Amino acid sequence: MKLFDVYPMLDVTIERGQGERVFDKAGRDYLDLYGGHAVISIGHTHPHYVARLERQLHQIGFYSNAVHNELQIGLAHHLGRLGEVDQYHLFLSNSGAEANENAIKMAAYHTGRSKFIAFRKSFHGRTSGTLGLTDSPRLQTAFSASIPVLWHDLNDMSGIEEALSRGDVAAVIIEGIQGVGGIHVATDDFLRDLAACCKQYHTPLILDEIQSGAGRTGKFFSFQSSGIEPDIITSAKGLGNGFPVGATLIHPSFEARHGLLGTTFGGNHLACAAALAVLEVIEAEDLMTLADRNGRYIMDILRTIPGVLEVRGKGLMIGIQLDQSAAPIRKQLFERYRMLTGNASDPNVVRLLPPLNVRRESLDDFAAALKNILES
Ligand SMILES: Cc1ncc(COP(=O)(O)O)c(C=O)c1O
Repeated sequence: MKLFDVYPMLDVTIERGQGERVFDKAGRDYLDLYGGHAVISIGHTHPHYVARLERQLHQIGFYSNAVHNELQIGLAHHLGRLGEVDQYHLFLSNSGAEANENAIKMAAYHTGRSKFIAFRKSFHGRTSGTLGLTDSPRLQTAFSASIPVLWHDLNDMSGIEEALSRGDVAAVIIEGIQGVGGIHVATDDFLRDLAACCKQYHTPLILDEIQSGAGRTGKFFSFQSSGIEPDIITSAKGLGNGFPVGATLIHPSFEARHGLLGTTFGGNHLACAAALAVLEVIEAEDLMTLADRNGRYIMDILRTIPGVLEVRGKGLMIGIQLDQSAAPIRKQLFERYRMLTGNASDPNVVRLLPPLNVRRESLDDFAAALKNILES
């Protein structure tokens, strides 16, 4: 059987990883500035992560949600503290799309409505529901496209109050920072206005922190800088550092109903151990402060490079807007400098999502490589 062809791939087979580096079959190392779609938060094979998972595997790897699991309770406490969301209720799943799917289901159940507000350039996942809220006509199916969505521009309140005042919107869904769309930051003022408007019209606000969460922006969730209290928050990617973990954080004002949310694998013992290890490392190594500092540092340098039109982002979630197509530049970064970077739906954007403990010297090396390529 052949593999289903899903993505254009870099021509490399990765066999091993350590910290900010991955190694191919021939033992050549690559600087990982992408973390496999923003997943590697604490670095590859971090010793604490490996030891905690190994210990857990010897103890018990899995039992379902039919029994109590103290690791889930520990994870809820830790997440609540780091994200300043202790009052929320946690539902664990296995991916970002699932976390969002559960969020939109909760909102539709709670309000009895089915229409959504989403933002242009958004990405919320590839399941039918989340795809319907993703601004990518190329990926839509007849099914996902049948979800009624009102599309608005990021950081622009015009038309939103009018739409909410009709009382038929189940939820507004927004990424703290749009990732796949090319790194577009929702401003704190916009988030505050949006949250206030949602509150006024009793419409849940869903904050998708799947790419922008887990400490990447210098706060645990990027929206924390705005001081808002979303109704539902979703997290995944960096939360498990490679182990699939999805999380839907639900405000206590939502009433629980048995059977409404459920999962076989979500919140299993190994997944919880992985997420706990990530949170422990983020805290012990002060990775949020590091991400904030090193993000500011490298963004300032990147802004001085001729050919770079704009650098957007927060912490280590960075979009570099070039004056040309990013694909050949990324190819040279890969082939000449052995650096892995990300693309975006905007073809002129290079996306950087390195581990939060990436070394400053490595960021300098990247800036020098990009400058060389753009000058040649
Ligand atoms: C903001 C955001 N939401 C949701 C998803 C979907 O996550 P997953 O691929 O884990 O289903 C992604 C994935 O890129 C994302 O960036």
